[in-house]
Amino acid sequence: MKAAVVFGTRPEAIKMAPVVKEIERRGIDHVVIVTAQHREMLDQKLDAFDIEPHYDLNIMRHNQDLFHVTAAVLNDIKPVLEKEQPNVLLVQGDTTTTFAASLASFYLKIPVGHVEAGLRTWNKFDPFPEEINRQLTTRLTDFHFAPTNWAKQNLLNEGVKPDNIFVTGNTVIDALLMIVDPTYTFAGDGLGRIDFEEKRIILLTSHRRENFGEPMVGIFSACRQLVEQNADVEMIYPVHPNPNVQKIAKDILSGVPRVHLIKPMEYRPFVQLMNKSYLILTDSGGVQEEAPTLGKPVLVLRKTTERPEAIEAGTAKLVGTDRDTIVREGQRLLSDANAYREMATKANPYGDGKAAGRIVDILLSRCP
Ligand code: UD1
Ligand code: UDP
Repeated sequence: MKAAVVFGTRPEAIKMAPVVKEIERRGIDHVVIVTAQHREMLDQKLDAFDIEPHYDLNIMRHNQDLFHVTAAVLNDIKPVLEKEQPNVLLVQGDTTTTFAASLASFYLKIPVGHVEAGLRTWNKFDPFPEEINRQLTTRLTDFHFAPTNWAKQNLLNEGVKPDNIFVTGNTVIDALLMIVDPTYTFAGDGLGRIDFEEKRIILLTSHRRENFGEPMVGIFSACRQLVEQNADVEMIYPVHPNPNVQKIAKDILSGVPRVHLIKPMEYRPFVQLMNKSYLILTDSGGVQEEAPTLGKPVLVLRKTTERPEAIEAGTAKLVGTDRDTIVREGQRLLSDANAYREMATKANPYGDGKAAGRIVDILLSRCP
């Protein structure tokens, strides 16, 4: 077997790293191709997991649009795949790198393995463009690595053959367990002056395209109000570098006492920060999956989620982007100890940390 592993953004790098490590550990012939749809945030993760790509397509442009990303990945990956001739190409998740690399693989008749297959909202524009990226990637995929039984059922409902679906758990839990480090201290991260013992930390992340504009104004205004009305709260927001996010974040949150707008964090300190937080507000997919393992309540700043498992487990709640609703739900968790305790239970709906091993076992048994 010769595998090509392709990824381009922060979450793909984190979730593909355990697969790359497992392939390396078993001495399997492979190439790692990064599109660098993200640049700095990708490089941070390559360093964290000590991965040296064989090919770097370096496609990121400032404030890029979906046409650029799709066309650049499709065109630039073609000569690499023609030269390397892998007999399987692995993609992860729902980004435009994921979809465009799968399409290139299909054009060259190279089988596709999709890690984190079967997530759905069935809403064409929410999340945008990820829902359609996933659905199109499913059509192009030969081996579907579903993280949960719910995801498997979605694929079965769409007519994917049962023999080609494998429930493996989500590789994000493998990554989390590789990195979690209770001995870590924040001395060098600009967070050293925050009193983690006496203050309650709210961790915020927000970057989704469908939240640009009014929804993001609602989210950040609610965050500001929550901090202003709770003197023992410090809010930490590693701001996503997308210029559409940066502008609204600065307009509403810059200079607000006890709000810390910082750069995107390395994975190791970010995981420790999740672990030290009282509450997490996020529109991120990956953070929704990691938080239940750490027993941290999450308010999901979105109208839909393709990750219902944490909500069913009771550790996450879908609150949308309306300012008053976010303030009400956030305040409830800050003021009502019982409501907080009910959500702050450890759950593990996304896997046991052994997903990458299962994926590689399946590839070895199915690929010549
Ligand atoms: C992308 C994915 C989204 C994923 C998110 C994770 C698509 C269409 N979107 O969204 O699914 O949830 O990544 O974070 O695939 N930028 C930098 N440095 C970086 C990364 C981004 O400066 O390291 C800036 C650039 O100006 C870039 C812009 O952010 O043009 C947008 O990046 P892009 O990958 O297109 O979209 P994201 O919002 O990051
Ligand atoms: N993350 C990180 N540093 C940060 C913010 C997030 O390492 O400053 C990690 C987080 O732990 C998760 C992943 O990035 O594993 C989520 O990425 P993102 O929210 O950008 O994308 P999504 O999961 O929504 O596609």
